[in-house]
Amino acid sequence: MKIFVAGGTGAIGRPLLKQLLAKGHNVVALTRSQERTQSLAAQGIESVIADVFDPDSVKGAIAHAQPEVVIEQLTALPRTYSRESMTAAAPVNTRIRLEGGANVLAAAQAAGVRRYLRQSIAFWGIPGAGLADEETPLSLDASPAVAADARLITEIEHRLLKTSNLEGIALRYGFFYGPGTWFNPDGDVGQQVRQQQFPIVGNGEGVWSWLHIEDAAIATVAAVEQGNPGVYLIVDDQPLVVREWLPAFARSLNASPPPRVSVEDALKMEGGADIVYYQTQMRGASNAKAKRELNFQPRSLKWVVDTTVALS
Ligand SMILES: NC(=O)c1ccc[n+]([C@@H]2O[C@H](COP(=O)([O-])OP(=O)(O)OC[C@H]3O[C@@H](n4cnc5c(N)ncnc54)[C@H](OP(=O)(O)O)[C@@H]3O)[C@@H](O)[C@H]2O)c1
Repeated sequence: MKIFVAGGTGAIGRPLLKQLLAKGHNVVALTRSQERTQSLAAQGIESVIADVFDPDSVKGAIAHAQPEVVIEQLTALPRTYSRESMTAAAPVNTRIRLEGGANVLAAAQAAGVRRYLRQSIAFWGIPGAGLADEETPLSLDASPAVAADARLITEIEHRLLKTSNLEGIALRYGFFYGPGTWFNPDGDVGQQVRQQQFPIVGNGEGVWSWLHIEDAAIATVAAVEQGNPGVYLIVDDQPLVVREWLPAFARSLNASPPPRVSVEDALKMEGGADIVYYQTQMRGASNAKAKRELNFQPRSLKWVVDTTVALS
């Protein structure tokens, strides 16, 4: 199939382009950077230069490429994962998802694209017992940044799924780890854990659902080829509470165990209510639908498996 990827040069875009090529698809990647067009060409990938905030150039790029499928992996997230950097990046990240994404979607619709897949987020199922599935309501009334993200996801998924004459698929990914992500040993959270700057808050009972970046790419290609229109949670098989995964991550880095902070003290930090939500209330997600319909077979979280074996 001919597939146009917006965001193909980012953390998930890079393995995604490789997977698409490996499956024999014909890929066109969008980038703003002349330099990146050269490295894409070296990998045998056609590219086109455009900024998604310029609707005419995006429209021209997609009309020219005439793809059957468009995949949107646009973000404007920072290299560092901290409350401050995430807060600073939020306005442009929201804008790229809302306005940039709207321009890509409108261009795809105008070009008669058959299928459109976009990045979404698996973290925001409303807290409750067990794992969230695709029908679980989102945490629209949670702490400020969580609620804002849940509302954003609701809006962009709704916009896609109600677009006529196009098969829309929203892929709600878990926490990315692996090369090029915050949670890689050389990524920003890896550094923070080494420097004792990533504490466990309160009981650390928030449940995180993980996803290796290459599994994200594999699941996305499966959704291109055989997914049904609608929403898929794309997460691994091991939802883990913070007090389990964070010490395991520290062990895998040969770092000291993470420090502990009370909920009361965390609430005094900037964005404290969001930190407390992530650490004590977040709900894991179920991959049952992705397994059933996409034959998704995620790998195990290596730092947890390896360090548990090492300790036993
Ligand atoms: N579920 C998760 O846990 C999750 C989800 C997303 C990201 N992250 C984290 O966020 C960090 C950053 O990763 P990322 O891949 O999202 O960001 P990134 O590496 O900065 O990639 C962003 C992508 O969007 C494109 N883009 C941005 N603004 C654009 C514009 N105005 N016009 C056209 N294209 C534009 C970029 O293309 P060009 O720069 O080539 O133009 C690039 O392909 C990673 O550490 C990752 O772990 C985590």
